[in-house]
Amino acid sequence: MKVGVLGAGQMGSGIAEVFALAGHRVGIFDVDKSQIEKALRNIRWSVEKLTEKGKVKDVEEVMSRIEVLPGVEAVRGDDLILEAVFEDFNVKIDVLRKASEEANDESIIASNTSSIPITELSRAVRMPARFVGMHFFNPPVLMPLVEVIRGDNTGPIYFNRAIDIVRGLGKTPLPVRKDVPGFVVNRILFRIFNAACGLLGKYTVEQIDSVAYYELGFPMGIFMLLDYTGLDLNLSISKEVAKRGLRLECPPVETLVKEGKKGTKSGAGFYNWA
Ligand code: CAA
Repeated sequence: MKVGVLGAGQMGSGIAEVFALAGHRVGIFDVDKSQIEKALRNIRWSVEKLTEKGKVKDVEEVMSRIEVLPGVEAVRGDDLILEAVFEDFNVKIDVLRKASEEANDESIIASNTSSIPITELSRAVRMPARFVGMHFFNPPVLMPLVEVIRGDNTGPIYFNRAIDIVRGLGKTPLPVRKDVPGFVVNRILFRIFNAACGLLGKYTVEQIDSVAYYELGFPMGIFMLLDYTGLDLNLSISKEVAKRGLRLECPPVETLVKEGKKGTKSGAGFYNWA
């Protein structure tokens, strides 16, 4: 299969890696060239890690399946086009409109949106029946679950095909038939973030994270996960779901983002990562 990934941030690069690891040819595009260079460095680092652990044989073979696309028009001819740009309705609409104009009539178009209903995004897509949500979790290469979301306009054939594609990656698809803001996972996860934020002031970040990690058995603390996922992404998701009536904000996140603290990727967030 030939796959075009639009957006080379944390999620786009991880998704491109997952498809390349599964043997697909992947093209990746981002308007920001430095982001592409960073994405290729991160993918190489990750594939090398998997090689050390005996999960991948040949780093160069995997890397050779990934090419950098010169523009959105280069997705023409791809079997699957996966949009993974910043979590902002207008940015996504713009990219999806351009990509679907270029796509051939047989392509499936997917969005990695974490929060925006697929039915709303489908209005920008030329072939809404072929449009689905395919929501990966960070880091895509290690996280087994992928939400596959059916919008009101998604054709059942294409929804099932998207589920099969996810299965073919060795991932576990979670079919989501109720196209609501935040889908399933983030409706739960953001309530957890929200509850933890509500305890700040009474308890420290470290105390709350210790409870999550040592008592509740979470793989990492809640604020650590917020830093790891990206506070800017968290803020955008909160804003997108709030516009649709679901209020799950964490006010300290907004303050940190205003200070340029976006979590691990910027060197600081709730924790100092420098
Ligand atoms: N590629 C390859 N290897 C990686 C890697 C990657 N991207 N990331 C980490 N590793 C490696 C580490 O380098 C480490 O290797 P060594 O053993 O050689 O040191 C190994 O994996 C284990 O990593 P950690 O020591 O960090 O240990 P861990 O056991 O905690 O595993 C984790 C890491 C899988 C990320 C785990 O902490 C976890 O599951 N955390 C929760 C993640 C999560 O919930 N993600 C969802 C966030 S929400 C989201 O993404 C969606 C949204 O819409 C907001």
